Amino acid sequence: MRPIDWDESAGAVRILDQTALPEAENVLVLDSVDAMVAAIRRLAVRGAPALGVAGALGVALAARTLPAAEVPAALARLRAARPTAVNLARGVDLAAAALPDGPDAVLAAALRLRDAEVVASTAMAERAAALLPGRSLRLMTICNTGALAAVERGTALAVVDQVRQEGRLERVIACETRPLLQGARLTAWELQRMGAEFDLIVDAAGASVIGRGLVDAVLVGADRIAANGDVANKVGTLALALAARYARPPARGGAVPCYVVAPESTIDLGTPDGSAIEIENRGAEEVLSVRGIPLAPAGTTALNPAFDVTPAGLVTAIVTDRRVIWTAAGERPRDVELPDA
Ligand code: MRU
Repeated sequence: MRPIDWDESAGAVRILDQTALPEAENVLVLDSVDAMVAAIRRLAVRGAPALGVAGALGVALAARTLPAAEVPAALARLRAARPTAVNLARGVDLAAAALPDGPDAVLAAALRLRDAEVVASTAMAERAAALLPGRSLRLMTICNTGALAAVERGTALAVVDQVRQEGRLERVIACETRPLLQGARLTAWELQRMGAEFDLIVDAAGASVIGRGLVDAVLVGADRIAANGDVANKVGTLALALAARYARPPARGGAVPCYVVAPESTIDLGTPDGSAIEIENRGAEEVLSVRGIPLAPAGTTALNPAFDVTPAGLVTAIVTDRRVIWTAAGERPRDVELPDA
């Protein structure tokens, strides 16, 4: 099943509750904007492309269930549910543009976005896989960028699946992705269902695993890509990009390529560079405990930035559904022409 979709018979949105995975596959029916906002905030639905669709479908719920006077405030709550992934605000704005044409038009706009993300996933996967030479690839990734984070297939993990389908995947190294363990809970679940060979590592092992020559390429997704190519993604991405550039000694081949795989809908030309990207700070309890079990002495304080920003120069290339932007070589999203759709 898709992690998010419209259920016509219920007149509501159905999501697979990602907080319950991998233990349980619980489906939630969201029939109001506030139910959608709550699901987004607690990461029951998550990942940049999926958040875009959630935002758009949230507007469809608003149009069907709320008096017109209450819609603007509801849309503001939806847009602000999580700040870093530009797809969420974009999805809300795209569907909101259809409000003057009535609820059916809003829903149709949201479903067009859903369908466009499905098409984009396949395009990205094929384009990025074609950039990876070799018949036996060892690919490292962080967080979850598979179908769960999109609508189908995903972004970086869709590339892994593409390489697997081509018979060129040796192994995946998946970072567990503390504090919420999207790598351990979600990516491992998707890789198992894919039938891919993989090892899970703690995030702190990433640099040494790269340094030991066990990785051919690092593939990550993005939550927002600035006009200059700086990339906001799950916290820990910057450490992997640094390690990919510097950790492997020249005798073992030197720098490892680091690709960002994301749809065009994640590129935000209105954000000049990474310093202008709002990084979501989440609650300290996510760091101080794992699934309710305390890890630190009572009274310990914690910082919990959910994302980091990787400078464009550390990224070999940004691969989207429509183009390749060779960022390490100096290309920037704002300068690279988009081919005709
Ligand atoms: O906090 P999350 O789980 O929503 O973070 C998700 C990520 O950081 C992904 O890497 C990103 O959204 C790209 S996903 C296709």
